[in-house]
Amino acid sequence: MNKINGKVFVWPLCTRMIHWIIASSFTIAFITSFNKEYFTLHIAFGYVFGVVLSFRIIWGFIGPSYATFNTFQLQFYDLKHYFAEKMKDRWRKIYPGHNPASSWFTIIVLSLGYIIVLGGILLYGIQEGSGPLAFLNAYYYNSSYALLSLHTYMSFLLVLSATVHIIGVLIEQFYHKTHMLFAMISGYKNCEGKDTKISQMRNIFAYGVIALSVSLFYFIMSDSESILTKNRFQKIDFKQENSIFYEKCGKCHKNYPPYMLPNESWVKLFDGLENHFGEKITENNISKSEQVSIKNYVLSHSSETSTRKISFKTLDSLGDMRPLSITKSPYWRASHKDIDPTIFKNPLVKDKSNCFVCHHNFEYGIFDNNLIKIPR
Ligand code: HEC
Ligand code: HEC
Repeated sequence: MNKINGKVFVWPLCTRMIHWIIASSFTIAFITSFNKEYFTLHIAFGYVFGVVLSFRIIWGFIGPSYATFNTFQLQFYDLKHYFAEKMKDRWRKIYPGHNPASSWFTIIVLSLGYIIVLGGILLYGIQEGSGPLAFLNAYYYNSSYALLSLHTYMSFLLVLSATVHIIGVLIEQFYHKTHMLFAMISGYKNCEGKDTKISQMRNIFAYGVIALSVSLFYFIMSDSESILTKNRFQKIDFKQENSIFYEKCGKCHKNYPPYMLPNESWVKLFDGLENHFGEKITENNISKSEQVSIKNYVLSHSSETSTRKISFKTLDSLGDMRPLSITKSPYWRASHKDIDPTIFKNPLVKDKSNCFVCHHNFEYGIFDNNLIKIPR
């Protein structure tokens, strides 16, 4: 750091890096939430966001001068005064650290951010049966709807607050010319105050957290079996569970996991084997006793017996309907409505019932959003 006349060194490099990691990890996690093909990225950036937020809170107590919470301007009077002066263009003071608006914004990011991250990890456990809280999947599925709304609305609220923050920063930078944006790049502000000095220990701590968040990202992207992303549902060996189901029902298509349809749908499907989606399946193909064995197996593993998201949401969306195909359920339709219909006609896909080409390992009973990939 070199002393520059008329400028104050406010943000050390590590603080600036953390600032941009907070901003970008949230932004990318938000954007990737709209497309489940990027679900792993969503999770990875969500975790990184959580780590840097935690760091920012600790930094608020032990960080260098302008980063600490006790330098924040959190009086409502200050905030009102700040906006009033800026509007009238009568302001005099450039705050070396956080001005009242950015002080409040930091508090908003930290609190909303934490709610979003914790809600996300809870949801990941309850709905997907994945991550450190995967065990909750068996208990709290119904309450996860409220949690999902919270996770979603808080994220939109944070996007809204961030937009206000960005507009404010741009006005500060280009209209009031206070150099607020460039200060987060160069570290220097045109104002009066003391230069920030950062101790070696603080530097080591901050760069350690930066290294941790980068490694965490690579770790999550490359290893789906770690405690952070592991799914509680393991591959089902249908051959071992019921070899007749495995062989006879896996002849024309891969095995559809029984948990994807409710009881009555399966009953209908077995009653209608003579006309099974245009195929005629008779006792010559599957004997009566084999049919009974398969039916018993499937019924004892239907949607009603399962705590998986796909089972819950299918059942929930079906109401009184009991179709033969999951693709008739409103949940399935809603989940796939954004997929270009021509993709289902692609020779690599063939048919919308060919779940296995896009949902990897579905034939082993695995339904994991980290494994969605449309063949192109
Ligand atoms: C003779 C071939 C054949 C056999 C044997 C067969 N199926 Fe099918 N099955 C089909 C076809 C064709 C479809 C339509 C979807 C497709 O094109 O993959 C289908 C669709 C299904 C679906 C609907 C998937 C969806 O869209 O939700 C289920 C469930 C299903 N089969 C279960 C079974 C079960 C259980 C058995 C064993 C009792 C079985 N199938 C045996 C040919 C067969
Ligand atoms: C052409 C590829 C493709 C096929 C075929 C396909 N899916 Fe999907 N499916 C996707 C994609 C992509 C998504 C994620 C959509 C999104 O971004 O929200 C998805 C989403 C889903 C979801 C919602 C996941 C969630 O978290 O809510 C379910 C459940 C699902 N698929 C089940 C099935 C089943 C069962 C079949 C077969 C009957 C099937 N899909 C066939 C591509 C496919």
